[in-house]
Amino acid sequence: MLGAVVVVFWSHVVLQGSYGLRMLEIQVPPSIMRGQPIMLNCTFDLEGDILYSIKWYKNNVEFYRYIPSDQTPGQMYPLKGIYLDSKFPHGPSIYMHKTDLTSEGTYRCEVSAEAPYFQTVMDEKELRVYVLPDRGPTIIGARSRYSIGDTLNVTCMSGPSKPPSFLEWRVNDEEVEHNKITRMSPLRHPDGLQSSMLGLQLHVLPADLRNGVLSLKCIAFISKAYLTTKNEIVATNKPKIAENHATVSHDGPIITGGRLRYAEKNVVNVNCTSVKSHPPAELRWYINDKEASRDYLRVSNPIRFPDGEESTVLGLRFTVQPRHFQRGEMRLKCVATLFKVTNMRSEEMVISSRQESSGLTVVINRNGFNSVHTSSIKLWITVFIAIFLHYR
Ligand SMILES: *[C@@H]1O[C@H](CO)[C@@H](O)[C@H](O)[C@H]1NC(C)=O
Ligand SMILES: *[C@@H]1O[C@H](CO)[C@@H](O)[C@H](O)[C@H]1NC(C)=O
Repeated sequence: MLGAVVVVFWSHVVLQGSYGLRMLEIQVPPSIMRGQPIMLNCTFDLEGDILYSIKWYKNNVEFYRYIPSDQTPGQMYPLKGIYLDSKFPHGPSIYMHKTDLTSEGTYRCEVSAEAPYFQTVMDEKELRVYVLPDRGPTIIGARSRYSIGDTLNVTCMSGPSKPPSFLEWRVNDEEVEHNKITRMSPLRHPDGLQSSMLGLQLHVLPADLRNGVLSLKCIAFISKAYLTTKNEIVATNKPKIAENHATVSHDGPIITGGRLRYAEKNVVNVNCTSVKSHPPAELRWYINDKEASRDYLRVSNPIRFPDGEESTVLGLRFTVQPRHFQRGEMRLKCVATLFKVTNMRSEEMVISSRQESSGLTVVINRNGFNSVHTSSIKLWITVFIAIFLHYR
């Protein structure tokens, strides 16, 4: 039994009774643009019960409580990223007139009924906040001159965004062998946005020039979250393992290496692997619903598939302390966010040898806005740098 994993399907946590209060759904959009107002709805069926309270939480912290029998039925508790409109009659729905990056998180709605059953039901969903980059990717580190046989070493950097853009290099419009690509961690800006970075190292060889031209293109895929899925391990520190009803969320990320029981000073060493997608999914680990500290995370290389899709792998490693258990339980949750590409931007650098000038020209083409659906506006900024090629 050691090494076994108990995975609990978390999409709906519903206390089921044969009658009475029933949770239907919490309606939370998967992603919103930073600043955008939102209305979240909690839909439930009282089925004859009397409503006692509706409570709203973000990342397990209560920010609003509605108790119709109270003199002031609505209570707001200030919380970072929550901007409740004071004029809106909150309750089963809440309205935020604005949002920011800290509005992101897990939203939960908890509904309780009055006596005699005092039933409580809840549901939760993830909200992601995205910010589009205000500029396309840039190729940096290009030298002013290259000779045949030189090593070209350039980096593509995307404009700051959230999530960071997914970058890809194409040489002569073809995919590049992985040994020529250097993956780098994204650049984190103080405002919470990130710039992706992807390096390319290439020996400039005569065979690379197609009709005298070598083209290097960096493509940035800009995306927004459209789905979050999760899976969870529930471990105990008790000598006897509690009976866990285990079900697996099939589209959720896969957790491996987990155990059913951990004692103090044991090392938790688990991996979470997302389903394959393009762009690759983003993974996050939570310990008892609190996002795991960055020191606990182990970033691995993604698994690449022949069709170009990737599976992200994120490890979680830490030494168990008593504080990691709540009521004898430690819940390790892995949340995968899947993205849909909304548009693409690219920058191209062309190295060409021209017979007339018996030289080599570097051209940088910057594609401004390039929507996936409508190949609309193309903004070409062309810079010509003439450099001389030294034939040996
Ligand atoms: C909540 O309900 C309102 C009114 O029916 C609707 O406009 C809004 O889109 C709903 N919110 C979500 C996240 O579905
Ligand atoms: C490429 O350039 C980066 C810095 O821009 C440097 O760290 C790296 O070592 C270089 N790689 C090669 C193969 O020259």
